[in-house]
Amino acid sequence: MPSISELKAELKRLNAEYAKIKDMPAEKRADFGKELNVKKQNIMQQIADAEAAAEDQEVFPLDITASRDINAETPVFLTADFGSKHPLMTELDRVIGIYQSMGFDIMESVQLDDEYHMFDSLNFAKGHPARDGYDTFRTEEGFIPPAHTSTMQNRVLKAHKYKLDEGGAIAVAVPGRTYRNEDVDATHEHTFYQCEGVYVSENCTLGNMLGILREFFEKYYGQKLNIKTQPGYFPFTEPSLEFLIEKPAALGGKGKGGDWLEMLGCGMIHPNVLKMAGIDPAKYRGFAWGGGIDRLVMLRYGLGDVRNFEAAKLDFLKEFTC
Ligand code: DAH
Repeated sequence: MPSISELKAELKRLNAEYAKIKDMPAEKRADFGKELNVKKQNIMQQIADAEAAAEDQEVFPLDITASRDINAETPVFLTADFGSKHPLMTELDRVIGIYQSMGFDIMESVQLDDEYHMFDSLNFAKGHPARDGYDTFRTEEGFIPPAHTSTMQNRVLKAHKYKLDEGGAIAVAVPGRTYRNEDVDATHEHTFYQCEGVYVSENCTLGNMLGILREFFEKYYGQKLNIKTQPGYFPFTEPSLEFLIEKPAALGGKGKGGDWLEMLGCGMIHPNVLKMAGIDPAKYRGFAWGGGIDRLVMLRYGLGDVRNFEAAKLDFLKEFTC
């Protein structure tokens, strides 16, 4: 196929041919002119087609790693602002850091699980109404996007059992993304984050657990806190408790006290849960807890609407960029 410049040269040559007409015998002029017009139209069409094709092929190199510096050697095609870490991820790192500083191992939760880990291994009896309390999503194949990080307890216990055999303790924190099929409002999201804590040793007590939880919350909020528990119900703990902190004035509390916020569920791990992970409940005992990260973060920053976290609202997210 001739190039665009070759076609243009040909057009130039044809245009020059018109000059010959005036020197021709009159009877030849018309045919010659007509033929020339047809050739010219043809070349002009070819030029237009070739130019359109070239335009289609013009590819702008997009280098997502390109520097934003317009003086840089590499041409820059990105004009958008740099992205930044999602506030929940920053806070999740903070949470993980605190648990690590307290000697906990970290094991990330899964995002798709099964009936065994979500319920059976946690001592939910088959057909027990407590299973319905978790508003679980299910895929058509029967998999479950986990509704709580407790779905990891059986795996955590099995994977760290060797620590007990070595005479030590299991101490693991499990951050994870969790899902529930519930109506979304300012305090409920279908997608949220939780962090689970699991501790097992020969002679640990509920008192040890409360000490760990107090330490965690005081470190996270950077101040002394009043704490309390109230009875709860979870099939995987006995006894089961809800853990509350009193909202301090610095975090929007009224300052008069009595402003209690439930932060997580907790309790002594049910012997059946230990047994299902191959741990002898006659020899070892443990405690566990699990609570929402979103709620934790909302209190720290005085946020009123949990939906902002998943809404991809730039104005909201930019408030957290440093
Ligand atoms: N998984 C429970 C929930 O999402 C919270 C919880 C309660 C976790 C007691 C625990 C626990 O580890 O021991 O509601």
